Amino acid sequence: MKKFIENLPKAELHLHIEGSFEPALMFKIANRNKISIPYNSVEEIEKAYKFNCLQDFLDIYYQGASVLITEQDFFDLTYSYLQKCAAQNVRHTEIMFDPQTHTERGIAFETVINGISKACEVAKEKLGVTSLLIMSYLRHLSEEDAFKTLEQSFPFKDKITAVGLDSSEKGNPPSKFKNVYEASIKEGYIPVAHAGEEGNSDYVWEALDILKIKRIDHGNNALQDETLIEEIKKRDIALTVCPLSNTALQVVTDLKKHPLKKMMNLGLKITINSDDPAYFGGQVNQNYIEIQEALNLTKKDLYELAKNSFQYSFLDSKTKQIYLNELENYYKLNS
Ligand code: HPA
Ligand code: ZN
Repeated sequence: MKKFIENLPKAELHLHIEGSFEPALMFKIANRNKISIPYNSVEEIEKAYKFNCLQDFLDIYYQGASVLITEQDFFDLTYSYLQKCAAQNVRHTEIMFDPQTHTERGIAFETVINGISKACEVAKEKLGVTSLLIMSYLRHLSEEDAFKTLEQSFPFKDKITAVGLDSSEKGNPPSKFKNVYEASIKEGYIPVAHAGEEGNSDYVWEALDILKIKRIDHGNNALQDETLIEEIKKRDIALTVCPLSNTALQVVTDLKKHPLKKMMNLGLKITINSDDPAYFGGQVNQNYIEIQEALNLTKKDLYELAKNSFQYSFLDSKTKQIYLNELENYYKLNS
């Protein structure tokens, strides 16, 4: 099964680039920028990665991101993740980035976007990995602040496909961002949002009805409401599920109790993703491997999950079909 997963062509649809920041690279960039971080070794950093909830993690995640200063830093961060994609047969990825995490510290929007997008261009050419970018608004900040970010993105519109919503969920419902989502959609961005990770099913309803999202990030708590499940199916909207993130942040107590298979059985369109792989104990293949073992998933289940990852990506239909054919051939030869 492990080999089958490793060679399976797949896409990753829920990945925060700041969450892919491995301790070794963090040290290297911190040294290069002469910034001190409150750890003496990679081991010390890894020890600090114990979380009781989303906020515990976010505090450490923002601290880590604060060593990123130059365009080269953002390039290195992104290219390092894309190399891991290539090594895992991740053929396509849709990368979230949090401009406000950086602009709040005085880093220019263009430094962030140029570093990330240049790495994506080089990876497409050299590694054969395609990518799209999702600009995510931080929900603990105001809608006005999100509007500023939207405006800053205008000169770079051709580099950004979608807008997302992340950070502290509880107390920051999707409805807080109604107007900025409306404006983002008018600008041509596809809307997605984190909902139902720690927030309840009402947050998922709001994301669907008020923000008009086309994909749900996490969405675990949608299972609280049968009418909502039917609505998600009716609208043909996929969920980007992140198993190791869910256990790391105590959203799910044990992988064996993870609702992923139940979601699939209900007819929901599920994908497997790593979320913040440097913090949650595994890249996307490790997520596939551990959830397969925990829930006894079959090759057919894994094929369906990978198929959804291409089907529910925001790629144009021609490129999507190329990847789907590749997957189909792989499955025929290896099932
Ligand atoms: N949830 C909310 N915000 C985030 C996450 C997450 O899983 N990862 C990075 N920012
Ligand atoms: Zn996330």
